[in-house]
Formats: sequence, structure tokens, C-alpha cells
Amino acid sequence: MKKITIAIDGFSSTGKSTVAKQIAKHLGYVYVDSGAMYRAVTYYAMQQGIIDSNHFNVDGLVANLDDIKISFKFNNSLGFAEVYLNGTNIENDIRTLEVSNFVSKVAEISKVRQLLVKQQQKLGKDKGVVMDGRDIGTVVFPNAELKLFMTASAETRAERRFSELIERGEAVSYEAVLKNVQERDFIDSNREDSPLVIAEDAIEIDNSNMSLQEQFDKILQLVNITQESIE
Ligand code: CDP
Repeated sequence: MKKITIAIDGFSSTGKSTVAKQIAKHLGYVYVDSGAMYRAVTYYAMQQGIIDSNHFNVDGLVANLDDIKISFKFNNSLGFAEVYLNGTNIENDIRTLEVSNFVSKVAEISKVRQLLVKQQQKLGKDKGVVMDGRDIGTVVFPNAELKLFMTASAETRAERRFSELIERGEAVSYEAVLKNVQERDFIDSNREDSPLVIAEDAIEIDNSNMSLQEQFDKILQLVNITQESIE
């Protein structure tokens, strides 16, 4: 079977990374969480006092971009690659609601996007990759053989993310999570550089009423059809 590139885009908390990990594991492909890279830059900016609830020193962040080294290291027991910032594992630190509250503002900056898109293209250059994000099918891999666009209602997505955060031990309210999901949807869809839009050749999947198994089966079927069509 020829290796393909699978681009999975969509709104926040649509379960993209869950299914992307399952599919990558099943196919023996590399999974890349592009959102983790935007979160890593955001975490760096928070640590350096470049962004907080009152201010965002955009020029300061851009001037420091050379100091940000993001890498992924596969964790055998977890079954996926964790993200590292300048050699430190930050996989858990970047999943907080606080990072989520700043990340879309950081992801609006073109210089940040240029840097990360280049790294993402490098990570996927040999194909055999499943990458999820907001602009994977439109900007990072416009020639991806399979493009998916995941959607679900904002309430469904907020409920999923709320349960995840509670499970991780974060004291958050459902209302705060819903607000974050709606705000990020708005910023991500309306920014000037690489807004979240459905690629012309993407297949839309609304998973509001799909179980994880149903979603996996459907996407695997699409992968098989795509592979057969290019053999
Ligand atoms: O919370 P969720 O898992 O849905 O989001 P994520 O994939 O971790 O992405 C976090 C944020 O990074 C998004 O809300 C976008 O602002 C930004 N992002 C982006 O602009 N482009 C990407 N390819 C991936 C993420």
C-alpha cells in the first residue's frame, strides 16, 4: 500500500486528535498534533511574561521565535508522541484552559504560523502521516490525498472538553469551557492568515452523534478507498 498524507482539520474539541491517533496507530503512520505546537509557543509566551490576560507583546514574541525549539518524542506507554519545549516535556502543561484562552491569539500571528508550518511540512515530508489542526488540508498539505473536516455542535464539544479537563484534575466550569470553545471558533475562523475553512476537496464529518468506534470505522473506510484509488 502506498503511504498517503491524511489531513484532519476542524473546530476545537471535535475529537480530531483522538481519531488521528487511532488511525495512525492502526496504519503504522506518524501522528502530528499541530495544535500542540501552537500551544507550545503560547506556553513559552506565558512563561516569559509575553502574554497574560491584560497584555500581549507580539513584537517581543516574534523577536524570541528563534529561542523556541519544539520537538516530539514518542512515548511507548502512551502510544503517541509527547511535545517538548526546549528539551522539557510540556505535554500536560499545554492542555490547560489557561493555555486554551491565549492560544488563538498567538496562532493569529503570521510569523508564528510561518515557522510552525515549515516544521510541520518537514515532519510530514515522507508521507505516512496523520496531522490534525486548522489549516492542514488548506495550507500545510494542500496536496494531501485524504482531507477530513470534523464538526460537532459547540455544546457537544464543550461537554467533551469539560470532561477531559475535569478528569485531568482542573477545576473549570462548563460555562468557561463553552466560552473558550466559542471564542476560539470565532478567532480561528476569522483571522487573516490561514483561517479555519473547509478545503474544497475535504470530506465533512459531523460526529455529534457518532461513537468513537463508528467514527474510527468511517474514517478507516475512507482511508482504504483513498489508498485503492491511487494504487
Ligand atoms: O483544543 P483543540 O484540541 O481543539 O485545539 P488544538 O488542536 O490543540 O489547537 C489549539 C489552537 O491552536 C487552535 O484553537 C488554533 O488557534 C491553533 N491552531 C492553528 O491555528 N492551526 C493549526 N494547524 C492547529 C492549531
